[in-house]
Amino acid sequence: MCGIIGYTGTQDAVPILVGGLTSLEYRGYDSAGVALASDDGIKIVKSKGRIENLSKRLYDTGYHAPCGIGHTRWATHGEPSDKNAHPHSTENLSLVHNGIIENYDELQERLKSLGYTFVSETDTEAAVKLIDLYYRESGDPVKAMFSAAAEIRGSFAFGVVFEKAPDTIYAMRKDSPLIVAMSECGGLIASDIPAILPYTNNYFRLEEEVLAVLTKDSVSFVGKNGESLTQPEETVSWSVGEAQKSGYPHFMLKEIFEEPEAIRKTVTPRLVNGLPDFSMLDKDIGRIHIVACGTAMHAGLVGKTMIERLARLPVNVEIASEFRYRDPILDKKDLVVLLSQSGETADTLAALRHSKACGVKTLAIVNVIGSSVAREADHVIYTMAGPEIAVASTKAYSVQCAIVSLLAIRLAFDCGKLDESEAKRLTALLINEVPAAVATVLKKSEEIGKIAKNYTEGAEHLFYIGRGADSDLCTEASLKLKEISYIHSEAYAAGELKHGTISLVTEGVPVVALLTEHKLAEKMISGIREVKSRGAHTLAIATERIKDEFTVPCDDMIVVPKIDPLFEMFPAITVLQLFAYHASATRGLDVDKPRNLAKSVTVE
Ligand code: G6P
Repeated sequence: MCGIIGYTGTQDAVPILVGGLTSLEYRGYDSAGVALASDDGIKIVKSKGRIENLSKRLYDTGYHAPCGIGHTRWATHGEPSDKNAHPHSTENLSLVHNGIIENYDELQERLKSLGYTFVSETDTEAAVKLIDLYYRESGDPVKAMFSAAAEIRGSFAFGVVFEKAPDTIYAMRKDSPLIVAMSECGGLIASDIPAILPYTNNYFRLEEEVLAVLTKDSVSFVGKNGESLTQPEETVSWSVGEAQKSGYPHFMLKEIFEEPEAIRKTVTPRLVNGLPDFSMLDKDIGRIHIVACGTAMHAGLVGKTMIERLARLPVNVEIASEFRYRDPILDKKDLVVLLSQSGETADTLAALRHSKACGVKTLAIVNVIGSSVAREADHVIYTMAGPEIAVASTKAYSVQCAIVSLLAIRLAFDCGKLDESEAKRLTALLINEVPAAVATVLKKSEEIGKIAKNYTEGAEHLFYIGRGADSDLCTEASLKLKEISYIHSEAYAAGELKHGTISLVTEGVPVVALLTEHKLAEKMISGIREVKSRGAHTLAIATERIKDEFTVPCDDMIVVPKIDPLFEMFPAITVLQLFAYHASATRGLDVDKPRNLAKSVTVE
């Protein structure tokens, strides 16, 4: 959500800023802009819409400079427009911002009373003018930024250039991500790693209350009393190639195809003597609360099913934005598990902080190493999905489902519900058979594409039905379809459909029925009959076992390979993701960057 890039160095900043913004596109945006700083002053170019619009405008101006900051804006305060796009400026400085200034109204009033005028509808303009106010007083960029930051409520990552120091970038953050890097060709700031990868693999994750000062050949860190600080440098373990499409038409398809490897890479490091290792957790856990947003929350539902099924421990799954405000009942012995791909989701981070403030132990299951959720939780487990660029999450969900399954096995073993040999058998299945079954499904991508086209072409609504774990999967399948194909869809526990929603099932309405729960197959078949007799166009996604044993009354069927029934949901997940992918791709939509959505939601 919003992307920041900044460069100061020996090369022309223009292509570096445009390239950086392009690599951050996945975060979601609706306008973009840059500020170019040189001895000739600061020049601003902005444009509503895609980066191509900005890039065209920028190249038309013929501007070049050795230093600059760029921004992709995801509108929160004020519509997407040239006027609201960042950077925002005064005659002394230009600033890009990710986050929300919560007290911008109050600050604006004060600044107006001091003679400042406001031209945009953004919260950001209050920040740039507040820094300007303090800069006029002290003439010192560092002091001005710290003074302003002390008065700002809310979240921010700032990249700033000053007229009088046109070769220097100043950066600071609070509750919004920002990294800083020094490469052979100069200094960089960015919201995320893909933007710096063409230049360097080393970076600093900027701490809060620390200001970074970058010039073409140095980066320094300053504390709020002007003291110089050192920050630990980190190295990215993945390459530029991993953050590129590598021949796939879309990142989403590439990422789905990476699932077998991602599951293996996630599960393997967690094993000790063939058993899952979660030794960092207390043995005597009370209730488990899984808290997350979006797709990660759906992986939490799978976690609940797995933990309750295997370990018979009660699990509460909650949307982080609700959890944080509803005064949840937490006991000191409870465990709050935060699931997050990015580790920067504002609501998930707030839920984590709330849990810690209540004295409850927290476990973060996060994909991005060193992210805020990872750093603040008592314990962290990394999923090893590698970079996920497509806004719609796929491989991150699959690996989250794998890790919560692994946790379920361990908890079941610890509380005596699984003996050692059974726990080891299930664990081995997760590393071997599960990825293999997912790989088998990937070979059917084309076939799934044809079926998806048949079921979604011209469709306005679609229903997913399932029971048990399949019902959890349906919620994610439905979200995926909505996110990228813009087809309205609903996920329904199949038994609940007749309590109301079946009134929407009429001639030709597509219904996707999920059948991986063997013991519930007969019930599902009755559900399919109910919708079929109302004219539904029915697609079953069924296991080989169910196909062989039952007559499923559907129009079409996609069969998922036979593995241990506990894990047959995994290949089914991949079918559902491919179905959504192809539904969007065949409609010619922007699969990787769906409208209005952001990859990492760093504001409330
Ligand atoms: C956004 C993304 C979703 C993601 C959710 C949670 O809404 O568009 O794909 O599932 O945030 O993100 P997280 O990084 O915490 O998993």
